[in-house]
Amino acid sequence: MFKEKFKALLNKARAQNGASQAVQSTSLYAEPPNEPIEIDSCEFYHHFNLPKIGEVGQGWDLRETVNEYLGVTLGVEYQGKRALDLGTASGFLSFAMEKQGSEVVSYDMASQAQWNIVPYQEPRFQQALPKITQQTALSYQGIRRSYWFAHHALSSSAKVFYGDVYHLPDALGRFDVVMVGMILPHLRDPFQALYSASRLCDDTIVVTQQCPLGEQPYGLFLPSVQNSPDNFESYHAWWVFSEQCIINMLAVLGFVHVGTKRVSHKCSARTRGQDTYEECSTIVAKRRSSLRT
Ligand SMILES: C[S@@+](CC[C@H](N)C(=O)[O-])C[C@H]1O[C@@H](n2cnc3c(N)ncnc32)[C@H](O)[C@@H]1O
Repeated sequence: MFKEKFKALLNKARAQNGASQAVQSTSLYAEPPNEPIEIDSCEFYHHFNLPKIGEVGQGWDLRETVNEYLGVTLGVEYQGKRALDLGTASGFLSFAMEKQGSEVVSYDMASQAQWNIVPYQEPRFQQALPKITQQTALSYQGIRRSYWFAHHALSSSAKVFYGDVYHLPDALGRFDVVMVGMILPHLRDPFQALYSASRLCDDTIVVTQQCPLGEQPYGLFLPSVQNSPDNFESYHAWWVFSEQCIINMLAVLGFVHVGTKRVSHKCSARTRGQDTYEECSTIVAKRRSSLRT
């Protein structure tokens, strides 16, 4: 009995020691890969114009509408600010914020195992799961490489943190602006993620994603056994939220709504290279205490 208790205490101490070492070790931030990255091994989630390379990308093309996406047209200022890009993917938003004068931390998941894959229990979904998991892993690795490829090509100074979106560490410090672009629909517990990021935000939160129309604060649960088991999105899309739903979530977290704008952004992700437009809402809220004069 005593032996078991001692063992448990020892393991706890080791785990705690390991965790604090991880935070205190050389740097909190990720290092760029040691080896040069082949462009063909990258999956660019965003379109970019890269110096000496030209245009790359096969998904969201925010080059013309980035100011709307980032909330600049709603008055969000990036010059001289510390900004967090939650769910950076290929990093286009991070590099855009940096270009506008922010000191940027790009955040993404530490391991592909952190993707919240919808856990369908029906056998036909279970059968398709190994293929979906493999596709998720390949996409995750390709997108991560694309981030570092663009980071290098653009000579970016953005720092990168890989971790748990539900528990952002205090060690990341305080942020003036937290950009939450198109990540909440992919999370099982979007409110916890928003809470976790909002804790580090002193001033402005920007949420940009597709929002269905309507005045009511509602969320729709997207997974359904009617979805196709072979469709990647069946496993990765959890929610859509009305604008008022996001505004209410932010209000609960102590942020006052200051503006919303619906804008169509170019996206070829679902149409194999053909340009289509997706309407997204950008919602800006400010920490209540930052509004006091
Ligand atoms: C759809 S992309 C959005 C990219 C970018 N923020 C934008 O608005 O264009 C979603 C991002 O969220 C990240 N993500 C998804 N699930 C996550 C999780 N459970 N933990 C951490 N990051 C996650 C993905 O790795 C990806 O970078």
